[in-house]
Amino acid sequence: MQKIMVIGAGQMGSGIAQVCAQAGYNIVLNDLKTDFVERGLAVINKNLSRQVDKNKLTAEQKDEILARITRSTTLQDAEGVDLVIEAAVENMEIKTKIFAQLDAIAPEHTILASNTSSLPITEIAAATNRPEKVIGMHFMNPVPVMKLVEIIRGLATADEVYQTIEDITKKIGKVPVEVEDFPGFVANRILMPMINEAIYTLYEGVATKESIDEVMKLGMNHPMGPLTLADFIGLDTCLYIMETLYDGFGDPKYRPCPLLRKYVKAGWLGKKSGRGFYVYE
Ligand code: CAA
Repeated sequence: MQKIMVIGAGQMGSGIAQVCAQAGYNIVLNDLKTDFVERGLAVINKNLSRQVDKNKLTAEQKDEILARITRSTTLQDAEGVDLVIEAAVENMEIKTKIFAQLDAIAPEHTILASNTSSLPITEIAAATNRPEKVIGMHFMNPVPVMKLVEIIRGLATADEVYQTIEDITKKIGKVPVEVEDFPGFVANRILMPMINEAIYTLYEGVATKESIDEVMKLGMNHPMGPLTLADFIGLDTCLYIMETLYDGFGDPKYRPCPLLRKYVKAGWLGKKSGRGFYVYE
């Protein structure tokens, strides 16, 4: 494994590109437009500069890391890579389209991984002719800080592919956890119903948003309250994951709170849109 292509230069993709480049891999950072790639690189640059300021990295090391990342706006660049980590939008149609294209372009040995937070890996794999080389690699936000990577085995994922991905996860300083392919995997199956319940608690007027967050921060030692965390993740993403759980299990306990739907419809998507449960300057 030498060269990794990361598809999507947003919050997750840029973080994944950063940690892989810091571990010594050559990265192809891909997005639809040059502007998106540049924005992702600017975030990486800022994160690395902060590490230089804190004397965790030298200016020389920072330059070396950045030099390992090349820009791309075409999937054709998958021609020369050993691993692709897809971190595009959470939409099955878009993901299957990308995977079918990658399958036609990438060399035979190339592993195709998805950073999906809840969509079935088995279904994404079925869009390719190499389902045994398709796997889930679910990073947490913010990627440079959070230690966990959920590694999701699709129905056909080969053992040696799992092993390679586990080794890479360790090499980039993360802790792998093996998970089977069921809706929401483990992280979001547990996290999202908690966030959804916090939203119901607000919706039913049990407490203010500040009080709900304070209870979970001070009472459970969570670094962020659930409503702050929902804003941080993105309310559209939270809703999408709840719907995936609801559809996937058919159990009413996963029904998304109407207040969450209302905020998403209003375009109040959390930190990224400037307003969610809280207002951001
Ligand atoms: N990118 C890179 N580094 C960041 C960062 C970011 N966005 N945000 C914070 N950091 C770094 C800081 O530079 C700092 O680094 P040093 O220790 O080297 O100095 C460190 O993280 C701590 O940051 P701060 O002191 O500024 O802030 P904090 O102590 O409040 O921590 C936090 C910030 C790490 C985000 C913390 O609040 C936290 O852990 N929150 C919960 C995050 C969480 O639950 N993530 C999972 C979301 S769910 C998910 O991702 C799955 C999904 O599919 C939806």
